Amino acid sequence: MKILVLHGPNLNMLGAREVDKYGTMTLDDINKKLRSIATELKIEIETYQSNNESELVDKIQATIGNFDGIVINPAAFTHTSIAIRDAILAVNMPTVEVHLSNIYSREEFRHHSYIAPVCIGQICGFKEGSYIAGLKTLVSYLQRANKN
Ligand code: DQA
Repeated sequence: MKILVLHGPNLNMLGAREVDKYGTMTLDDINKKLRSIATELKIEIETYQSNNESELVDKIQATIGNFDGIVINPAAFTHTSIAIRDAILAVNMPTVEVHLSNIYSREEFRHHSYIAPVCIGQICGFKEGSYIAGLKTLVSYLQRANKN
């Protein structure tokens, strides 16, 4: 089983950026943690970050035939991107949306996600724990789906 973990804009600045909301772990720390969980779960992951919407769309399109599911933190594109939503619909790939912060306890413009309705589910508010829970729940979802 192979999972793509996608990180959207400004997440390359984690560790230095608004640490009260996003925590002190760098993106590299989070990716390392996810890789060690992947080894425990005996699955493969690839991680990818971009500040560019079209690169994220290209990466989602390239999952066809190469991946079984996606964990995505679309960051600010969560609240703006119909293109990322349409890419997930186009590839029809089981996807979990994650956020470090609780987007519902923040500014109103963060309460709406264009991405969540085309995902299996959304996990937010647990800092790096959202990614960990997202990866683990996606893997168990796919394992259950493969049995049926
Ligand atoms: C975020 C929440 C978004 O609203 C914000 O634009 C981000 C990070 C999070 O992980 O909490 O860049 O996706």
